[in-house]
Amino acid sequence: MASSRGEFSSRIGFVLAAAGSAVGLGNIWGFPTQTASNGGAAFVFVYLILAFTLAYPAFMAELLIGRYGQANAVTSLQKMSKTTFQKRFAFIVGFSGIIFASLILSFYGILAGQMMSYAVEPVIRTVGFEGIADWVVAGSLSRNLLFTASFMCLTLYIIRKGVQEGIEKWSKRLMPLLIMLLICLIIYVLTLKGASLGLNAYLNPDFSRILEPNLLISALGQAFFSLSIGTSTMVIYGSYISKKENLISLGAQVTLIDVSIAFIAGLLIIPAMYVAQAQGVAIFAEDGSLISGANVVFVVLPSLFNTMETVGSVVAFIFFVLMTVAALTSSISMLETPVSYVVERHNMERKKASTIIGGVIFIISLAIISNIEVLLGLVIATATEYGQPIVAMLACIFVGWIWQRNEILKELQQGNADVENSFFWKIWPWYVKFICPTAIAIVFIHYLNISI
Ligand code: PFF
Repeated sequence: MASSRGEFSSRIGFVLAAAGSAVGLGNIWGFPTQTASNGGAAFVFVYLILAFTLAYPAFMAELLIGRYGQANAVTSLQKMSKTTFQKRFAFIVGFSGIIFASLILSFYGILAGQMMSYAVEPVIRTVGFEGIADWVVAGSLSRNLLFTASFMCLTLYIIRKGVQEGIEKWSKRLMPLLIMLLICLIIYVLTLKGASLGLNAYLNPDFSRILEPNLLISALGQAFFSLSIGTSTMVIYGSYISKKENLISLGAQVTLIDVSIAFIAGLLIIPAMYVAQAQGVAIFAEDGSLISGANVVFVVLPSLFNTMETVGSVVAFIFFVLMTVAALTSSISMLETPVSYVVERHNMERKKASTIIGGVIFIISLAIISNIEVLLGLVIATATEYGQPIVAMLACIFVGWIWQRNEILKELQQGNADVENSFFWKIWPWYVKFICPTAIAIVFIHYLNISI
């Protein structure tokens, strides 16, 4: 028998769970390093504009689909469909989102596992097991296997417990912890030598780069990844929101938290890189650009922590726990997406569905780990650079063109009786109908041109 549907018990429960999904490695790792390699505050400026003008409307479309349907992504979209063709289209959009959420989890789990391994390394070293500590950060196949499996087990543990007892309860615990750790680290790093140079590099815009196609594409991709758009994840979280809630303001709160945490994370990572430089760690690549990507987290920052002696172990531990927590609140949303589908469409019990799907995703992770050099980049690109924008675009087309305007209005009026006169209602329907799909398509085609 399928278990009955869950619902977030409170407004704050939803906001923290959805913000938990949004705030992840993308904010604390992706955003600062993209900023560093794309002209500092110029990137931040473009990112903020795109996040509010394109990602937020698309995000709202997904939340609305779920809140209307009160079901998994496919069923929710099909409830909006009238014809057989529309129902088929609904299946393709909803199901593709579910597949991409699962694919993202398959590589996200590997990266999060690495974060976990770096969190336990200083602890193991402190208790005197130097050999094991070296193995933990050596990046071997067995290390990746062990920590990816451990991270998947944590994710599974929460999802098996359901919406209120799992997702909501743990998001309420982990999100405040995440914010507290982040603030503590920022305060500490900003007192160190070199931090002000980093602040300068972060907050001083290089506006000459603002119209570079690469910058625009990276900013849009980052905004979509960060808000978990195009993966059906926000459809399913939307479906757990009570009809009494004001969706527009909930969506805006989540977007604001997501963008703010990305911005705040920049105040940690970029100054920390310049502090590392003051300690003799190389932070510029051969072409003179700031080092970005995995090297920041796994080379530059650990080198910095090493120069700090005993304090360094504590700071390293806190930093990698922060990363693991951020990843966990996101990974649970990724796993919930396919699980809710199987529970509802195939009438499977939640615990069983979670375990089977978690197992399948772990097997995909294993395949990636077995040829990590080639497959990791490929899966990341497929899911985030192609999958997410396409599904997000189709979801906007669905809401803008297939759903009737008066039905959308009726849904929005639940929890917000006055919506018809709001600024949101004056522009948002046009946005999802014309602007979002066109802008996503333009950026996507441009991306294809650049990468081919
Ligand atoms: N938003 C998460 C981050 O910024 O790390 C990543 C993410 C979560 C992507 C959930 C997709 C998803 F469905």
